[in-house]
Amino acid sequence: MKKTVLNKGEVKISPLPPDRWEDFKSLRLRSLKEEPMAFLSSYDDEANLSKDEWERRIKNVVFAIVDGKPIGMMTFVLRGRVKNRHIADIFGVYVEKKFREKGIGNRLLRHVISRIKKNDRISKISLSVVADQTPAVSLYMKYGFKVVGILERELKLNGNYYDELVMEKIL
Ligand SMILES: CC(C)(COP(=O)(O)OP(=O)(O)OC[C@H]1O[C@@H](n2cnc3c(N)ncnc32)[C@H](O)[C@@H]1OP(=O)(O)O)[C@@H](O)C(=O)NCCC(=O)NCCS
Repeated sequence: MKKTVLNKGEVKISPLPPDRWEDFKSLRLRSLKEEPMAFLSSYDDEANLSKDEWERRIKNVVFAIVDGKPIGMMTFVLRGRVKNRHIADIFGVYVEKKFREKGIGNRLLRHVISRIKKNDRISKISLSVVADQTPAVSLYMKYGFKVVGILERELKLNGNYYDELVMEKIL
């Protein structure tokens, strides 16, 4: 079945200023509560982070915004050590359930890859994803990420173990 893709007028892809940290906090905590299997961090790890910490983190996030409200997000960070300054990491990828399968993940990832490519020094993008998160794994493969390793039993949740895939895209 062909999916209904939201157009540019309906969804804006953009960073948000630090003073929108409460919107970011609420979306991030929602993602951790709704999708505990998708993220290494848990709700309890982040529920009590300070305003300063949210204001610091929001600087690395790109949001999908509908009617002025963030409904999806993707974080990217450029590594800073002399020997790994050529690597960018992507994490914290989430789209609210009711907005899924409408092309928002595609737009977030395209936007983030093009932002990363603006830095001439970056030659590799790295991420990790729980192997069972099929939509996320498919999304990354679609944009040229390859599985380069499997971290077995990397997450333990409610007594169950989950493997994590390490994926990379060479630029
Ligand atoms: C992964 C996620 C961000 C995708 O967002 P989305 O807005 O639904 O994605 P899109 O509609 O843009 O689809 C993009 C691609 O993702 C993949 N995809 C999305 N939904 C899928 C599904 N139900 N089954 C299989 N692949 C799927 C496809 O490759 C799709 O490509 P297409 O557009 O050619 O069909 C979303 O499913 C999500 O938030 N999942 C839970 C959190 C999570 O797993 N985060 C990743 C942590 S590393």
